Amino acid sequence: VVRATIAGSGGYLPATRLSNDELAALKGLDTSDAWIRERTGIGYRHIAAPGETASDMGAAAARQALERAGVEASEVDAILVATSTPDSAFPATAVRIQAKLGVTKGFAFDLAAACTGFIYAVSVADALIRAGQARCVLVIGTEVYSRILDWTDRGTCVLFGDGAGALLLRAGEGAGTTADRGVLSCHLHSDGSQGDILHVEGGAGSTGGTGLLRMAGKEVFRHAVTKLASVVDEALAANGLGHEDVRWLVPHQANRRIIDAMGKKLHLPPERVVVTVERHANTSAASVPLALAEACGDGRIQPGDLVVMEAIGGGLTWGAALARF
Ligand code: ACO
Repeated sequence: VVRATIAGSGGYLPATRLSNDELAALKGLDTSDAWIRERTGIGYRHIAAPGETASDMGAAAARQALERAGVEASEVDAILVATSTPDSAFPATAVRIQAKLGVTKGFAFDLAAACTGFIYAVSVADALIRAGQARCVLVIGTEVYSRILDWTDRGTCVLFGDGAGALLLRAGEGAGTTADRGVLSCHLHSDGSQGDILHVEGGAGSTGGTGLLRMAGKEVFRHAVTKLASVVDEALAANGLGHEDVRWLVPHQANRRIIDAMGKKLHLPPERVVVTVERHANTSAASVPLALAEACGDGRIQPGDLVVMEAIGGGLTWGAALARF
């Protein structure tokens, strides 16, 4: 059996860091550090420099993943990018990253599933590797939400940040060498009837709108914990595993309260849950790979650890991926 094994991870955050206090000082934005921390757990977010794009950040995260894996860019034969904030309608951000990395073989494309995009991309990469269509795949989540936020809407602009994360997946032959290591299974869902509760008004191909993000926060919150818990249980059950087998939960980083509720539902002590939301805020499709890059980089996630990744976002879309690192 050919499996998608995890070869390396990488992350990138833009240099500019914006605190809650700095946001509260913005003219007309009536908010406070205390409100934001209490409701979301967010303290800071990074903001892309003028001219810095999703492909710039994604390429930086990819370079770190390649370096940590000890793999040359020339070995990459597919690049999948999850983003809702592409550099342009086309060429795809993935193709731009391909050029920035100097990769000339294989193929590259974007996919859009909002905050769940990275989980969707891991699922597609895993399927490509199992099918023998690719052997060395860069899976990247990269977002510049600062460019689609309404900076006069305190209900949304405080929640998001910019950044990118990448995971390098490689075909590993099963029996003996890689044992049960690699992506075990991915579980994807969507419900288009809930599209309006979290959406971008307009954009390329739209007949109107501002191009800005709109959200009914309470509605999203209501769906988040039940849908995430259900998809994680679906993933564990599909592999004959239980909550006690999970070494690390790497959740989408939208909100501390959602993350804590998920940890409780899975009976995981807080020290087994990777949390970056305080420093990164919600970086949408980049949040899970950025958190992975941190926890692999500082040695928390070790080879052989069972890791559950999950996310929910606009669409609605939600999903989980189970992997043994
Ligand atoms: N600062 C101060 N006050 C604020 C702010 C702010 N930044 N934002 C909203 N408020 C006010 C509201 O105007 C409202 O005031 P009012 O009572 O005078 O009308 C009051 O706070 C309560 O507003 P609610 O929206 O009811 O606040 P709630 O407790 O639901 O918290 C929040 C809002 C944090 C967005 C919450 O609903 C939430 O976490 N939702 C989950 C959505 C989420 O995380 N989305 C991220 C993207 S989707 C994803 O990635 C899963």
